[in-house]
Amino acid sequence: MRSKLEEIRKNGREELEHAQSLEVLNDLRIKYLGKKGILTQVLRGMGALSPEERPLIGQLANQIKDELEKLMTAKSESLGREALRQKLAAETIDVTLPGRFFPLGHKHPLTLVLDEIKSIFTGMGFTVAEGPEVELDYYNFEALNLPKDHPARDMQDSFYITEEMLLRTHTSPVQVRVMQGMTPELPVKIIAPGKVYRRDDDATHSPMFHQVEGLLVDKRVTFADLKGTLLAFARQMFGEDRQIRLRPSYFPFTEPSAEVDISCFNCGGQGCKVCKNTGWLEILGSGMVHPKVLEMSGYDPEQVSGFAFGMGVERIAMLKYGIDDLRLLFDNDLRFIEQF
Ligand code: FA5
Ligand code: MG
Repeated sequence: MRSKLEEIRKNGREELEHAQSLEVLNDLRIKYLGKKGILTQVLRGMGALSPEERPLIGQLANQIKDELEKLMTAKSESLGREALRQKLAAETIDVTLPGRFFPLGHKHPLTLVLDEIKSIFTGMGFTVAEGPEVELDYYNFEALNLPKDHPARDMQDSFYITEEMLLRTHTSPVQVRVMQGMTPELPVKIIAPGKVYRRDDDATHSPMFHQVEGLLVDKRVTFADLKGTLLAFARQMFGEDRQIRLRPSYFPFTEPSAEVDISCFNCGGQGCKVCKNTGWLEILGSGMVHPKVLEMSGYDPEQVSGFAFGMGVERIAMLKYGIDDLRLLFDNDLRFIEQF
């Protein structure tokens, strides 16, 4: 039995020496040390030995087992290192290759225009306020002096959530929310940018668009302040040469009211499809805050006055960049967007 064990030791050493891969090594482990392995089989036969011989043979068998195990561990480490070395040698990394290119996004033209509008007005001392897009009928119409069944509501048909709640049709409800929150503090001097919704759809009207509301309430605010503010805005936005005109108009929440047009960029005022042959493009509605609105918002119309305006951001983008169809702003066609 002793010689049998010595033979196993010798063969094991040799075979391990020649093992060239981790798979072969694993097979050898099973062959020698596995449950049905050679060494295990020998140990099983130990019952037949004499009591004197048994511990000596047992000791030898354990020695061989330990030795083979150690050899296997060492071999598996060296094979692993070799495999890694070969893998690294085969992998050729060219450090001179250019890096992977991730295209950088940039601001949408509407965001660019919105940012510019905000910066012009904050430069004049206005702060930025916000209101909800899902608005109560009360703020969108009623508190702006547009009671139910008022005919001017027809021009701003919208999507109703319930009878008392709708997608806001303009940013004017923010006027009321801000005044009610501030009264009796003065001055109220805010702009309110945001999305608004209407049943509209053509080259200059979309069902969702952006407005920027403006509101100044203080002692002795006059129509001249309104005109001066809007002129200063138009000049900074479009340059000195662009013509601007104030046209008498009507809004239930301002009195008197005016709409402001800018000369058409497309035809230079001759008349075309963009300006519907008028030579002008309307960018905003405005006026002196109606006494009833001041009163409903908690201010005394005998003591204070104010002006307000609401401008269309898409229209301003069209004028600024010469875009002849507002819908291009929402198509998300990169050939268009990448021009800004
Ligand atoms: C209003 O919405 C008033 N709230 C403006 C106002 C505010 C008046 C404060 C007085 C005091 P109007 O419906 O005219 O007014 O819209 C204002 C601007 O929004 C228009 O001049 C136009 O530039 C833009 N606009 C209106 N409808 C659309 C639309 N469907 N798509 C794109 N822009 C639009
Ligand atoms: Mg209008």
